[in-house]
Amino acid sequence: MPRTLSQKAAGALASSRLLRRGQTLYAENQNNWYLPLSRADKLKSGLWLILHDYSRGVFPPQFLDQQKAYQDEKNYRFSIPGITAAEVSRNNMTKPFWRGNSLQMYLAHFCRIVRCLEGAGVQPPAKVLELGCGGGWASEFLATIGYDVCGTTISEDDITDAHRRVKSLEARGLPSTLKFAASPMESVHTVVPPGTFDAVFIYEALHHAFDWRASLHSSYACLKPGGWMLVCNEPNVLHTYISYRVARLTNTHEIGFSKKELIAELRQAGFRNISSSGPKFHWWFSPHWLLAQK
Ligand SMILES: C[S@@+](CC[C@H](N)C(=O)[O-])C[C@H]1O[C@@H](n2cnc3c(N)ncnc32)[C@H](O)[C@@H]1O
Repeated sequence: MPRTLSQKAAGALASSRLLRRGQTLYAENQNNWYLPLSRADKLKSGLWLILHDYSRGVFPPQFLDQQKAYQDEKNYRFSIPGITAAEVSRNNMTKPFWRGNSLQMYLAHFCRIVRCLEGAGVQPPAKVLELGCGGGWASEFLATIGYDVCGTTISEDDITDAHRRVKSLEARGLPSTLKFAASPMESVHTVVPPGTFDAVFIYEALHHAFDWRASLHSSYACLKPGGWMLVCNEPNVLHTYISYRVARLTNTHEIGFSKKELIAELRQAGFRNISSSGPKFHWWFSPHWLLAQK
């Protein structure tokens, strides 16, 4: 029930004719992940949902229960509307070779990660740790180049998928330096050998962590002295709003960061030589790319 005046106003707006289309689209989207939505449709359904949830006191989302947050992330493949877990697994195995603009974007991002590593002097066969690796595509690509890679993520099912990539390298006769392990990134230093990695990178996953601050501290513990932390394509502040519809549909954690808070926490964790290679403009929209040294 709306409590404050602003919640009452949001509730009234959400149930007005103005946003009826948004409500209908969201209801359809709840049954069909692939519902074709134009930008305007996404805006309407997202706006309706935010106002609706704000009026009920559940927006902005609060993540207070670690075990629930972990379980929700692990359940991701079982919670996407209209998609089976087997399809999610197939998607994991084909990533980044997805249709549309995704392929170009993921490959460009991968090249950027490699450039960041090389720019920091981290060359194969250096030891690299990935956090939130999903189905492990970026870890596999780095291992193909010759890095000694360990991919980690919270979902054991993702790790089962990712292990097939190790077999794929072996089948191609490439020396298998690729490993995967299930671990929350908040405590990854308790699962992998701490103080042994030349670089830790996280790509589009820090914003899913229950406690992103603890994740940066745990990354620090994994690195050798002088090792490098790469924060890659993590969303800017408006992501909390822009991705709220997706977060609600999949029951996962979608938040955005300001560059200021990311840099402050990296410093707090003990990192130095912190630099940003983006964004220069569009402060609230463009994702972050940060490099920091232990
Ligand atoms: C958007 S996906 C990105 C996956 C991967 N980086 C990629 O490019 O395919 C976010 C990933 O973070 C993982 N994740 C969520 N919370 C986590 C946590 N607390 N610790 C480790 N991984 C987590 C999810 O299971 C998922 O694999």
